[in-house]
Amino acid sequence: MPPSIGSALVPHLTRVHARLRVPGDKSISHRYAMLGALADGVSHLDGYLAGADCIATLSCLEAYGVPVSRSVSARGLLVRIDGRGLRGFRPPSAPLDCANSGTSMRLLAGLAAAHPFRSVLGGDESLARRPMRRVIEPLTSMGATIAASEGRPPLTIDGANLHAIAHAPDVPSAQVKSAVLLAGLHAEGRTSVREPAPTRDHTERALEAFGAHVVRDGSTIAIDGGQRLHAIDARIPGDISSAVFWLALAAGIPDSEITIEDVGLNPSRSAVLDVLRRSGARIETSMDQDRAGEPIGSIHVRSGDPRSFEVTAAEVPLMIDEIPALAALAAMRAGVTMTVRGASELRVKESDRIAMLARGFRAMGVGVEEYDDGFSIAGGPPSGGDVDAAGDHRLAMAFAIAGTAARAPVSIQGAESVAVSYPGFFTELERLAQSR
Ligand code: S3P
Repeated sequence: MPPSIGSALVPHLTRVHARLRVPGDKSISHRYAMLGALADGVSHLDGYLAGADCIATLSCLEAYGVPVSRSVSARGLLVRIDGRGLRGFRPPSAPLDCANSGTSMRLLAGLAAAHPFRSVLGGDESLARRPMRRVIEPLTSMGATIAASEGRPPLTIDGANLHAIAHAPDVPSAQVKSAVLLAGLHAEGRTSVREPAPTRDHTERALEAFGAHVVRDGSTIAIDGGQRLHAIDARIPGDISSAVFWLALAAGIPDSEITIEDVGLNPSRSAVLDVLRRSGARIETSMDQDRAGEPIGSIHVRSGDPRSFEVTAAEVPLMIDEIPALAALAAMRAGVTMTVRGASELRVKESDRIAMLARGFRAMGVGVEEYDDGFSIAGGPPSGGDVDAAGDHRLAMAFAIAGTAARAPVSIQGAESVAVSYPGFFTELERLAQSR
């Protein structure tokens, strides 16, 4: 039967040797665009991720009256942002569309809270299900007025002159930390966030790159309000959360190796490499440069002797986005199990990633046990079949990677969702299949 529109047939792979680059980092792209919009002067951002999430951020900034121009460069998008200076946004004439992007909505909520007019932030059906109280509460205590139905989008935000708070969120979340710090940049006094566990620190590094002073003291990050930002010219590194699908591929297929060049190696993102090593993969990294405070280099992975592995609750916040790729690796190799606990945050991502991951891998003939806060997956290889990505980009890619080792064809419904973070994913997979 020919595949239907939006479905992808996964090529079977037996050995992969490749060197490649992945699209620009999603987290960094969002942050540089927002800080560029707040800065004085013109920023040029090369390698900006052309994925739907980061495009949504640019469109929202344009709706706030920020001049943005984009052109295609060898590394993705080249984005030029004419900063409007602190508190320089204009009232938007219509609701802002954050599409599928939780990062756009939560971080922009921090900026909307600091601008003295009404902003309405909405998005697609998946985003409409995601919890927003985690940003509504701190931003309200800083002085904004925010209306939402049962703490879910759309958010109607009446911005105000904010005052500083000391916030201690219950969940470790870089998005919450960033929303509060971005609001804090506009507030009277010193705003701080005490993290229950460390999360990615791109906001702190980006604020420094744009000229702000950030105070880090153990698990507390603080910022003084009123600091002006200056524009930057930056080249955004590849996204390790996209690279990890290729790392899992090379780790999961015997006699394979892949090198990923020009990828971000920020230690608050690279903990997944330790887990891959525990799974038997042989991994080397080389740190080549520091750009705008972000360490960047290459990762070389070779398949090794597969071993069962666990992701512990303490590790989860630093690799929350990489768990689907790790599950794909476990699904590929016979006799291997992966267990993750303490990961209930996965249930409130672009999909309920525990339930949808279990449903998808089972549809491919892989055994999955589901827990409230995680799952256990027992290696196949997958027998094959039709799998639904549940509109979730990372699940689509995880099923595709596992499907390369399947005994019979795997097709993925909703494959187009990869456009959220990795528009060329299936083209790259096909290229790898052809180049063996
Ligand atoms: C992100 C933080 C994480 C992650 C998301 C991107 C960010 O979300 O899952 O893909 O750029 O700050 P949480 O902060 O909700 O854990």
